[in-house]
Amino acid sequence: GAMPNERAKRVLLAKPRGYCAGVDRAVETVEKALELYGPPVYVRKQIVHNIHVVRTLEQGGAIFVDENDEVPAGSIVVFSAHGVAPEVHRQAEQRDLKAIDATCPLVTKVHAEARRFAADDYDILLIGHEGHEEVIGTTGEAPDHITLVDGVDDVANVKVRNPEKVVWLSQTTLSVDETMETVAALSDRFPSLQAPPSDDICYATQNRQQVVKEIAAECDVVIVVGSTNSSNSVRLVEVALQAGARAGHLVDYAHEIEDAWLADASTVGVTSGASVPEELVQGVLDHLAGHGFTDLTEITSVKEKLTFSLPRELVLDMRAAE
Ligand code: F3S
Repeated sequence: GAMPNERAKRVLLAKPRGYCAGVDRAVETVEKALELYGPPVYVRKQIVHNIHVVRTLEQGGAIFVDENDEVPAGSIVVFSAHGVAPEVHRQAEQRDLKAIDATCPLVTKVHAEARRFAADDYDILLIGHEGHEEVIGTTGEAPDHITLVDGVDDVANVKVRNPEKVVWLSQTTLSVDETMETVAALSDRFPSLQAPPSDDICYATQNRQQVVKEIAAECDVVIVVGSTNSSNSVRLVEVALQAGARAGHLVDYAHEIEDAWLADASTVGVTSGASVPEELVQGVLDHLAGHGFTDLTEITSVKEKLTFSLPRELVLDMRAAE
């Protein structure tokens, strides 16, 4: 039993955390498509980068594939929240697939910026992580005009045609601080470098990083719920460490939490990436409570109200079926 003067160990729970508007819409798109058309509904790539979400939708009849050519001709295919190159839409048409595009509107916005600057013949420096689906999709809008810059170390190697006509854009889920370092290094090389017309790093990424920064210094360990292929979740661990957390770990499920992480801790921070269902966070909180972390405080930085309507092609079919 606890000593009379032994304080309950603390949990600082970050808010906002978890689902952003784009993930909420993408997951609901697959759920509604399953209801409307019946299984199977094919989904190109993980609809969002969370293993639990993917498994749950699979149980409901979704079939996840890597490319359109794995989808039987005439079937329904949903494109993931991370966006696709125009070529992927063309392939779907050629295979007579009914495509439902669950690309987050904030990714679509970056695609539109890329098309516009490419049409004006700019060199576009796209800051992002090599191989990430969003970067592949955005680059596909204007492959001849876009150069990937994967962090500050990449800056020295960047080549442009005309240093007077250069703009940077970015992946939506990067670390804000690291991106600003990369931009500063790019500006040193290209003083005429232009910035995107509005923030490419999305509100949800920024807000989740902001609140984790506020709690990090008080935390012996920060536990971020999220999958290892989730860019914004991985960034949350990095941001927590940079902001003074003594340790930080990424877990998909509560059972991955090791007792050693908690052994000497009196305050644990908890947050979750933008693709993470709240039930997984609840699992972590229950696990922590079982280890004496019963003094729970939710720390709210900003309130989020944004929501997106479902893809138009789905909404039209839903109306027709009424
Ligand atoms: Fe969209 Fe940002 Fe979420 S780009 S899918 S709102 S993490």
